Amino acid sequence: MSQRTCLSIILAAGEGTRMKSVVPKVLHTIAGLPMVAHVVKAAEAAGSGELALVIGHGADEMRKAALKFAPKAEAFVQEKRLGTAHAVLAARAAISKGYDDILVMFGDTPLIDPEALAAARLKLAEGAAVVVVGFRTENPSGYGRLIEKAGKLVAIREEKDCSDEEKKITFCNGGLMAVAGRHALNLLDQVGSKNAKGEYYLTDIVEIAAAQGLDVVATEASFENALGINNRAELAQAEDIWQQRRRREAMLSGVTLIAPETVFFSHDTEIGADTIVEPNVWFGPGVKIATGAKIHAFSHIEGATIASNCDVGPFARLRPGADLRNKAKVGNFCEVKQAIVEEGAKVNHLTYIGDARIGAGANIGAGTITCNYDGYSKFFTDIGEGAFIGSNSSLVAPVSIGKGGYIASGSVITESVPDDALAFGRARQRTLPGKGKELRERFSQAAAARKKG
Ligand code: UD1
Ligand code: MG
Repeated sequence: MSQRTCLSIILAAGEGTRMKSVVPKVLHTIAGLPMVAHVVKAAEAAGSGELALVIGHGADEMRKAALKFAPKAEAFVQEKRLGTAHAVLAARAAISKGYDDILVMFGDTPLIDPEALAAARLKLAEGAAVVVVGFRTENPSGYGRLIEKAGKLVAIREEKDCSDEEKKITFCNGGLMAVAGRHALNLLDQVGSKNAKGEYYLTDIVEIAAAQGLDVVATEASFENALGINNRAELAQAEDIWQQRRRREAMLSGVTLIAPETVFFSHDTEIGADTIVEPNVWFGPGVKIATGAKIHAFSHIEGATIASNCDVGPFARLRPGADLRNKAKVGNFCEVKQAIVEEGAKVNHLTYIGDARIGAGANIGAGTITCNYDGYSKFFTDIGEGAFIGSNSSLVAPVSIGKGGYIASGSVITESVPDDALAFGRARQRTLPGKGKELRERFSQAAAARKKG
């Protein structure tokens, strides 16, 4: 099949307002990726090399966003929303280039399964002119019904045009369609708008093709393929289904999720075998985890690279650019941003490390802060191999601590410290015997005098 050329047309011109948002509907995200990008990925996974995106008039934001995740996509504008067939024809110039297969998908159905697309393409390869990907549901209301005669698909009837008898049909149009490129324009150009909505229905090409004696086929896929998102409750439902799939995939690939329903992945999370993820962990975009890591409960991780056998959390926050090398440890209430934590280094408690390198085996004491920002610019802190940073120290960047450097607790370090040096950056302690008691007596007498007077 790979030799067959394929164009995917993604319809995204019908903008509902039910998302109550300034963001176009199909740019709302599932697992951190715009839903239309999920559709693009599915098309690509099904071997569709070329993409046409049909957008509404004035949808410049969409066009720009689309180019980011599908640089090869060509955008077409449907000036007026006259129906799904009309929308497909907005991409006439692309269809005219001549493809073996044309796939039509909706931009607001992010859970499309590439296998359903591939199966539809297979039917085209076997000679079908039109393939409709259907699904069965006990609640078909709102969907086009697949009308079959003698086991053959002969028409799709939209809900509003259905007879009472037809309304009882539970085999529905999921919205995915595959059309043989050589018939596509001929079929689409015959679609009229005599129906309850007065729209040019893409679904009418089924009846037109069947009447011409062309082979029309219905395949069956799961309901998720048809799950169109129209409001934020449906968005959350799609997110939920996506997360469930991804968790299962992670577990089957050797990742332990102790409470899977509390772990959230992004579309691009990479996580290696024998990693253990405790409950309530969030993976934002751009996370790569090698094997054997432990991610403890309540950690929030995005844009981070975590090498083998690292230990993260509980309650750790790894921000973009956090780069943990083998066996590094970032413990509770620590935040790491744009920093390399080299092999075996430990950042265990209540610490902020930003714009820094921590050398292998270094130990960062509780409450250490890299002061990386002066309100205008960011500066770098370099900590050498095996250094020891005493608790509650502030390292005011730009600054470097040499290999094996030793920083006394509670220091404010503003000047670089050479290898193996000991640096104090705090006031020297004075201890005055008996002075504590004397002070207490003085204060208590003063308080008593104030009460009397
Ligand atoms: C459509 C199908 C229906 C199917 C259902 C599955 C038709 C006529 N009906 O109905 O059989 O069961 O999807 O969800 O195809 N769009 C445009 N321009 C237009 C009209 C629509 O770009 O002029 C886009 C919309 O943005 C949307 C998609 O096409 O992404 C489907 O349109 P929608 O109005 O949701 O069709 P349904 O009534 O749901
Ligand atoms: Mg719809």
